[in-house]
Amino acid sequence: MKEKIEEIRKSAKEKLKEITDMQELQALRVKYLGKKGELTSILKGLGALSAEERPKIGSIVNELRDEIEKSIDAAEKTIKSEILKAKLENEKIDVTMPSKNIALGSVHPITQIIDEVKEIFLGMGYSIADGPEVETTHYNFDQLNTPSDHPARDLQDTFYITEDIILRTQTSPVQARVMENQKPPIKIICPGAVYRSDTLDATHSPVFHQIEGLVVDKNIRMSDLKGTLEMFVKNCLGQNTKIRFRPHHFPFTEPSAEADVSCFVCGGKGCRVCKGEGWIELLGCGMVHPNVLKNCGIDPEEYSGFAFGFGVERIAMAKFGIEDLRLLYENDIRFLKQF
Ligand code: DAH
Repeated sequence: MKEKIEEIRKSAKEKLKEITDMQELQALRVKYLGKKGELTSILKGLGALSAEERPKIGSIVNELRDEIEKSIDAAEKTIKSEILKAKLENEKIDVTMPSKNIALGSVHPITQIIDEVKEIFLGMGYSIADGPEVETTHYNFDQLNTPSDHPARDLQDTFYITEDIILRTQTSPVQARVMENQKPPIKIICPGAVYRSDTLDATHSPVFHQIEGLVVDKNIRMSDLKGTLEMFVKNCLGQNTKIRFRPHHFPFTEPSAEADVSCFVCGGKGCRVCKGEGWIELLGCGMVHPNVLKNCGIDPEEYSGFAFGFGVERIAMAKFGIEDLRLLYENDIRFLKQF
């Protein structure tokens, strides 16, 4: 019996040495330690031995069982670590390899101008307001003192969705929305897309961008408007930029004006960008009409305000020397890469 056990010990040792994968190891585990394994069958046969021999042999078999179990566990560890090692070898990353070229986008010129203008007005204590592009005629026109027979409301000029829902033609309706929801003092700008029924050409587009400004407080005067715009154009277009006001008419401001800036390309001498004029028409502005304040629940006897609005594309074109508006919307990477 002892000899047989000794044989098992030897053969197990030898077989373990040859094993290289987990499957073989598992088979070996079954062969020696399994329910029908060689050691188990010896244990089962202990009954046939004498009472004296039984415990001796039993303990030898159990010892061997422990020994084989330990060896198999150790072999399993070794195999597993070798598998891992091989895997790591295979998946090695060469950190010195040149990287793939990922094409980075750039900020669109229109967004660049909007960001720059936001930065300037945030610096002057303004906040940024927002409003819907699908707007009601109530906010786009009525609240802004624009009567129903005003030419701007014409079907020719405005995209109507229903009789009283349109694509906003200007960012000015945000003025009314803010005034209805906020008590003075109010100091906001609102950048956004606006829509007009225009055919696309080098200077017109059915969708473009505007930035609206609104200040309402006690004792706001025209000189505040002028000082604010002067500060803005100097920061945005260059410290030598001059501004001039021309009388104009907007239904929602009284008095109203259009503001021109000295050409920031030629400095006022006259060039292609300013078409020889020395001045570039920049924005519409004025003192908020008392009717507009009243419409929005603000007492015009107590408060006054100024407002302005301008097109972003015009500034982008002049600033970046872009001659055709359409380039801004075509998203040709060769064009966009330049900014
Ligand atoms: N909304 C006007 C336009 O689209 C521009 C404008 C003029 C805005 C005067 C204003 C303003 O806030 O006071 O032509």
